[in-house]
Amino acid sequence: MNFLQNQALKYTCNFLNKELKSKFNFKNEVNLEKSKDGKKVMLYIHVPFCHTFCPYCSFHKFAYDEELCKEYFKTLRIELQQFKDLGYDFNTLYVGGGTTLINEAELIKTLSLCKDLFSIEEISCESDPNHIKPEALKDFKGLIDRLSCGVQSFDDEILRKVNRLEKFGNQKELVKKLESANGILPTFSIDLIFNFPSQTKQMLIKDIELAKNIAPSQITLYPLMKSNLTKEIIAAKLGIDKQDNEYEFYKIICEYFSDYEQNNSWSFSKDRTSFNDEYVSTHHEYIGAGSGAFSFTNNKLLVNAFKLDDYKAKVLAGKNQKLAHIDFSPEDRINYIFLTEFFKDNLNINNFNSNYNCDLEKHLGLKLKAMQTIGAININNGIINNTFFGKYLALTLMKEFYINMDLVRAYFRKDL
Ligand SMILES: C[S@@+](CC[C@H](N)C(=O)[O-])C[C@H]1O[C@@H](n2cnc3c(N)ncnc32)[C@H](O)[C@@H]1O
Ligand code: SF4
Repeated sequence: MNFLQNQALKYTCNFLNKELKSKFNFKNEVNLEKSKDGKKVMLYIHVPFCHTFCPYCSFHKFAYDEELCKEYFKTLRIELQQFKDLGYDFNTLYVGGGTTLINEAELIKTLSLCKDLFSIEEISCESDPNHIKPEALKDFKGLIDRLSCGVQSFDDEILRKVNRLEKFGNQKELVKKLESANGILPTFSIDLIFNFPSQTKQMLIKDIELAKNIAPSQITLYPLMKSNLTKEIIAAKLGIDKQDNEYEFYKIICEYFSDYEQNNSWSFSKDRTSFNDEYVSTHHEYIGAGSGAFSFTNNKLLVNAFKLDDYKAKVLAGKNQKLAHIDFSPEDRINYIFLTEFFKDNLNINNFNSNYNCDLEKHLGLKLKAMQTIGAININNGIINNTFFGKYLALTLMKEFYINMDLVRAYFRKDL
């Protein structure tokens, strides 16, 4: 990375940070409006339960308790019925967590209800390595289309430091579990995290080779995200590296996956697919169900109640109230969609303009020129092509976006 690129990276990340922070509005609760046009959008369901808490993870979750979890799923199903009553329809469902397969019977009931209520064509779920046993997965045939399993690393020492070695198994055990789960559901995906403090180049390459040998349909490599919620505990558990290896490691990743299709800056597939890890990049409008879930609709980012009692009370009162919102101006919306499209792929300017009713070149103006000057993109015949540096820039911006979402989580989780 040259000096100009380095400065541009810092500048754009700071800019995005400031923009997002200035827009958070925690004061006014808003109601989810009726669907205006019955247009099919994406449904996101949050399952906030885990058996173990990993120090790097800031996703909204509670320690698993069977009764609490059953009660939660019951409330979720009421909320889903309310979406139906508000006129919503969905074509895609992402279930995120937490550990979404933590109570299989409740999940099956809930997914089946979604299929009954809405025109769902594809369902994606996340799991830890303990809930991917072939006997259990067979019950999800015809329900789950894509399952991602968090491995994070195959290195026993890293697994030990992040409290996953005893809970989910060592390298050998993980490989065995993943091999036996691969191929049962249409798409199986492995999540790894790179740039852990103390991770060496050799450790990263070993992780990539082991994942590729298992041959799942997709492999996602997230850069380690450190927010205010997690940075201290990450440092305590894993230490602090003198040098940040993210860019160098990203180069290695792209080299090792040159025989794969790239779905977006951090996800690779054996065959190209739009059904990947990042629903934010493929769906610009989504409705979130469950405690702590985000929705993005009508130019607003809405957030559901984080406390389980509050969440249940709001759903039972039928108010559909959301706790916080961020208002996006029409210009913000274009910036947001541009970021997600840029993260995903090359971009056809004419298609973008007609899909989002705008003039992208006019809208981005000097920013587009600056991106060309620093070598992040080149434009040929109306197509914006991402260079390697462009992909890395998109990765860091998406990482910043997620880190900023942690500010919202931090705000609400402080009273839990
Ligand atoms: C919400 S988690 C659910 C995964 C599942 N519960 C598990 O632990 O295997 C989805 C994925 O997000 C990624 N993730 C979580 N925290 C992260 C962080 N701080 N930085 C990068 N990726 C992270 C992990 O790869 C994880 O598998
Ligand atoms: S990584 Fe998975 S198991 Fe670990 S805390 Fe996050 S959601 Fe729970």
